[in-house]
Amino acid sequence: MSIENAGVFPKIIAHAKEYGFVFPSSEIYDGLQAVYDYGQNGVELKNNLKQLWWKTMTQIHENIVGIDAAIFMHPSTWVASGHVASFNDPMIDNKDSKKRYRVDHLIEGYADQLAAEGKADKAQAVLDEMNRLLAAEDFAGLHRFITDEGIKCPISGTANWTEVRQFNLMFSTQIGSVADEANTIYLRPETAQGIFVNFLNVQKTGRMKIPFGIAQIGKAFRNEIVARQFIFRMREFEQMEMQFFVRPGTEMEWYNFWKEMRMKWHKALGIPESKLKYHDHEKLAHYANAALDIEFQFPFGFKEIEGIHSRTDFDLRNHQELSKKKQQYFDNEINQNYIPYVVETSVGADRIFLMHLCNAYTEEVTGEGENRKERTFLKLHPAIAPVKAAIFPLTKKDGLPEKAEQIYKALKTDFRVVYEEKDSIGKRYTRQDLIGTPFCIAVDHQTLEDDTVTIRDRDTAAQRRVPIAALRDEIGHAVSFARVFEKL
Ligand code: GAP
Repeated sequence: MSIENAGVFPKIIAHAKEYGFVFPSSEIYDGLQAVYDYGQNGVELKNNLKQLWWKTMTQIHENIVGIDAAIFMHPSTWVASGHVASFNDPMIDNKDSKKRYRVDHLIEGYADQLAAEGKADKAQAVLDEMNRLLAAEDFAGLHRFITDEGIKCPISGTANWTEVRQFNLMFSTQIGSVADEANTIYLRPETAQGIFVNFLNVQKTGRMKIPFGIAQIGKAFRNEIVARQFIFRMREFEQMEMQFFVRPGTEMEWYNFWKEMRMKWHKALGIPESKLKYHDHEKLAHYANAALDIEFQFPFGFKEIEGIHSRTDFDLRNHQELSKKKQQYFDNEINQNYIPYVVETSVGADRIFLMHLCNAYTEEVTGEGENRKERTFLKLHPAIAPVKAAIFPLTKKDGLPEKAEQIYKALKTDFRVVYEEKDSIGKRYTRQDLIGTPFCIAVDHQTLEDDTVTIRDRDTAAQRRVPIAALRDEIGHAVSFARVFEKL
């Protein structure tokens, strides 16, 4: 029985903490809102996801290379990208609770409430009016609408609101020792600009021919005002972005290519088709001529995990204008110079971490009456599981630990495996189920006679006997990245 309702989400958050996946940041000081640390199992899961993405991009696609740009960038970068002028969210404060809300979130919450009361038409009308006012940037109108509808602060219960104001989401800091305006720099709110400003460096030094891509994984920072839903929306997070540079006029072809390809990637990692969907953007960002999100069905609803954007030549053109450095490419197939168009794929490492955690969390009940058994396990794809196999001696005597340790030592050079001899074998199985270890290998007395072990499958709990000599291939096959890539 897999569970798909909002009630399961608090259990997933608790599970993530209890089993070393995600901890609140600086928890001994009561944490820092919307900032999280990855624990011993979380970091392995996240690294596996990042490696899979990295290898897909830079190894499977022969025309994509990677870079690792600095987080700090010249402040003009963010003027050119449009973030200084327009990376804003309209906010409103409740004067009684002193809580600040993103206007769209506040109104959406109100519409959800109407829908839950069976007033679907009214809810839709509210959303339509909100979209109209947001598109027109009519802040006075938004304020009036919130007041007229009598939308209340969920904390104070009052409708005592400030005006609607714009807040920039970029974090700023000072570079150098003198704190003045000229030294203000930003923590990058997206990794993409590090790619744009290196477009010509990579193209020239790598002798890249269009179409080609540049991929990057790195931290991004946004001062999200309404940071909710655990690691879904964080202030410090990690993006995996790829800018694909194409000849103008071919961008829709590549947009469709990447739309399909990225969806396939999520499915190849075991996310069921029924839990994924596309969401086309109706209101396009200033830089895009087409955009969509890939959404996953989280316990709290379908939400964005990845964006595919056709960004035209917006970024390179603006960088060219502001830097006065030509950002052009000579296409010798058509004998023309042009600023390339860009199709971007942008996915949050933390978002897909949360997606896999939600998808994997399984509470299973088997048997009835006296035979009833409950089991919680993480059905993670073996390629991303933090531990690939656990090796257990059945008991702590008769030479079983020594034999099990030999197996452990032989496997650890290829895979992340653990050895455990403490507690009953049942408890040891449970501990591995809870962190999603696909295989448990038990060494028993028969092992000493015929060099075979039992291997227990996490998802079925079924056990088989296999020769020790076959273990490397068995595990290797299940966890191999190559098998994921074959599905693309
Ligand atoms: N360069 C384009 C860009 O940054 P975006 O839609 O703002 O586009 C892309 O972000 C992805 O980054 C999102 O789909 C999401 O996975 C992730 N992301 C964005 N903001 C985030 C946040 N506050 N916390 C965690 N992940 C975030």
